[in-house]
Amino acid sequence: MIPSYPRLTAAAALLLAGAVQADSPLGIVYNNQECGLVMFDVYGEFEWPGIGYGDYYGALCQNPNALVSMYASMYTYCLPEEIQPGVDVMASWCEGYGETELIPPSEFAANLTKEAIATLPVYGEGDLPEDSNVTAPFLMSKAVFDITRRSEHWYDWEQRLHAYYTFACYGFWAIVLFFGVVQNIAYKIIESRNGYVYTDAEGTGRAINNAKPSNIFGRAAAVVRKYAIMPSALPPYHQQRFLGCTIPTRAETFVVAAYWIIGIVLGAVNIHGFNDNIFWSGSAAQIWRYIADRTGTMSYGNIPLMWMFSGRNNIFMWMTGWSFGTFNIFHRHIARLATLQAIMHSVGYTAYYFCAGYGDYYYTNYEELWWTLGVAATVVMSFLIIFSFSYFRNKLYENFLIVHIVLSVLLLVFLYYHTNIFDLEDYNYPFLLTACVIWGFDRFVRIVRQLYINLHVRRSSSSTSGSRLQTTKATVTFHESANILTVDVVPGNAKLFPGPGQHYFLYQPLSIVGWENHPFTLAYWNQTASKTTDDLHLQFWVRPYDGWTKKLVKQCKAKGGSTLTTAPAMLLEGPYGKAEPLHTFDQVLLVAGGSGIAGVLPYLLDYVRRVERGAAAGASGRVPTRTRNLTLVWADRNESFIRFIADSTLAGLLNRPDINVSFHLTGSAQPSSSVAAVSSTASPSTDAVDSPVTPAEDDAAVGEKTVQQFNSEKGGVLENTTDLNKPAAVSGGYRIQSGRPDVLSTVRKLTQSIHGTDARLGVMVCGPNDLADNVRHVVAQNMETTRESIEYFEESFGW
Ligand SMILES: *[C@@H]1O[C@H](CO)[C@@H](O)[C@H](O)[C@H]1NC(C)=O
Ligand SMILES: *[C@@H]1O[C@H](CO)[C@@H](O)[C@H](O)[C@H]1NC(C)=O
Repeated sequence: MIPSYPRLTAAAALLLAGAVQADSPLGIVYNNQECGLVMFDVYGEFEWPGIGYGDYYGALCQNPNALVSMYASMYTYCLPEEIQPGVDVMASWCEGYGETELIPPSEFAANLTKEAIATLPVYGEGDLPEDSNVTAPFLMSKAVFDITRRSEHWYDWEQRLHAYYTFACYGFWAIVLFFGVVQNIAYKIIESRNGYVYTDAEGTGRAINNAKPSNIFGRAAAVVRKYAIMPSALPPYHQQRFLGCTIPTRAETFVVAAYWIIGIVLGAVNIHGFNDNIFWSGSAAQIWRYIADRTGTMSYGNIPLMWMFSGRNNIFMWMTGWSFGTFNIFHRHIARLATLQAIMHSVGYTAYYFCAGYGDYYYTNYEELWWTLGVAATVVMSFLIIFSFSYFRNKLYENFLIVHIVLSVLLLVFLYYHTNIFDLEDYNYPFLLTACVIWGFDRFVRIVRQLYINLHVRRSSSSTSGSRLQTTKATVTFHESANILTVDVVPGNAKLFPGPGQHYFLYQPLSIVGWENHPFTLAYWNQTASKTTDDLHLQFWVRPYDGWTKKLVKQCKAKGGSTLTTAPAMLLEGPYGKAEPLHTFDQVLLVAGGSGIAGVLPYLLDYVRRVERGAAAGASGRVPTRTRNLTLVWADRNESFIRFIADSTLAGLLNRPDINVSFHLTGSAQPSSSVAAVSSTASPSTDAVDSPVTPAEDDAAVGEKTVQQFNSEKGGVLENTTDLNKPAAVSGGYRIQSGRPDVLSTVRKLTQSIHGTDARLGVMVCGPNDLADNVRHVVAQNMETTRESIEYFEESFGW
């Protein structure tokens, strides 16, 4: 008889696991190819003595009796336009799986005339015993054709949907990224238009005009920014955790939520089963099977995206101008969705085996590598997600990254063997290889950046050192009273363009954990405009906290003095990050908490340089900044640190009329009135002071643990506390106020000053998470809906 569904040997299970075809993506079988495969489904159930006996494809592709039967049935039942595609797909399966050739119908022309076909016997279901030897051609009955065609069609239709829905997810991200690129170009145009003024237009160009009413697009943009782009989805939480979770901005939330909905809906719609399916009798088995295949394919589809959005060198970061933090949010949500899909795939296959009555095979399959590694891959993915929760990231701290990478490599290897049973073009090349290429690209660019910045071969060795090979030299100094490490680096290659908003990764390659690298914001650099022989110095200010930074402190102390010169054993990688266009704003407010000063100070120095460049350009020259007034508010709990910066980097800038700086000493200490009397009260507890600005890229743990002080005094930074009126210490020509600054009223005051004009205010925050979140919240509230009035920037890396 023609069996109602095939026996399931391991080989047949494999075959059904993916109706795969070499030359279409993901083994898609198109509608017009289905009729050809119906022939394999039906005639593959019999034995064909003679040529190819005992070999599934050997018989179907070469045995004349089988071939005449198949072609005669095709000519009888397939639509004329389905015959050639059907023969083609049969040929490609013969080649791909049987490693043999299909003898074409032209070889049997005499046996395939209408008259010859009419002489063939017609067998229906049950007319021939299962597995019986067939020694003459026969035609399948219409009933057998119809039910087999229907079964084949729904299977192939589902397969096509698995692929299309997987590609639809790429379509989603293509749209999101396209929007980002367009937005970035628009911002760049605005920036280049607004980024300068002419000095001869002093009276007009730089004067504040009354606001002209914006056009409808300007207003719409302002409203969107105020309500959709700026605020957190759950104000004021953004940098701060809410119940241990990162809360993205509303725009990010919209993208992520849309992706979850798309992922879940596309994983579950258009799943059909019917009772007489020749492959699987019950609907339940079919439904589980289709769900499992759908989620498995979509999970694979997410893998390249996961890698794409996690790298330091992500071309979409460059194209959209979105931060690492934004892409990291995407990365994590894609990974979670992919893991959910992998779990559904595993659950689905388990349910499928038992619903279809293959329970015995379920257990024996664990002897198969592809099966067992598939199970292992789901487990590895789940652990990747679990270890990425902030609780475990804090526990793993500096080991988070190494654990994450090792598990990711395991995942790719396991998945490779899981889908190695199919053609490489089906899963392994499009998804796994793509992920490897993306990963390799990121690592390659990192190496190129390192080579470029750390090594420089001089043309002549005539210069001072005599050596033609210049390498990076670093000097680390621990300022104990200020509780700050300064890392001064002279990069091997001086042809760099240091600027605000940049960060670099520092490596100590000769230490035991030489691969460890930590991101630090570029706080200061000596810009010798004259390009003399002076070396370029890049400076990083680091609050020692734990791990590597603590080790550096120890190394400094071990040297007896406080200064440690590590040359040449420090390597730089960078620069990363981009400068925010603060020079396009008429008013600029910089807010720093703790060592967050390192993130905003470069903007102040950049402003000064731009004004100088404008002055140098002469009376008719162009001043490359629109800013007329810059305010810096900085709070730290360590007076020595404040004085250290005020007396060095800021010296000479504090009395300018266009720069207002206010220092705030928080915590219990009273400001001393003498610079020299620096208390050596750097008690052990201050080890854990507020936020190191280290943008916590993939060393997230650094950023994680840094919220201590400000968060424990939650809200205090922002409220007008009674401390504010305590006497301020005046020394060295500047005042250090005691108590926390009232940042919110500063924002409101500056907002008022530009209200009703066409001036714009740029606010940049770098500091503890609650500070950033609260300022973000207040800025969003104070944005005007009639025009672009305020913009908010923060120097921090969301995790
Ligand atoms: C089918 O033919 C083969 C040899 O051609 C023979 O060994 C086998 O026993 C036959 N099977 C049946 C069911 O007749
Ligand atoms: C094809 O037709 C020829 C001549 O009628 C006949 O001898 C031969 O057996 C047929 N072949 C098959 C596979 O039926």
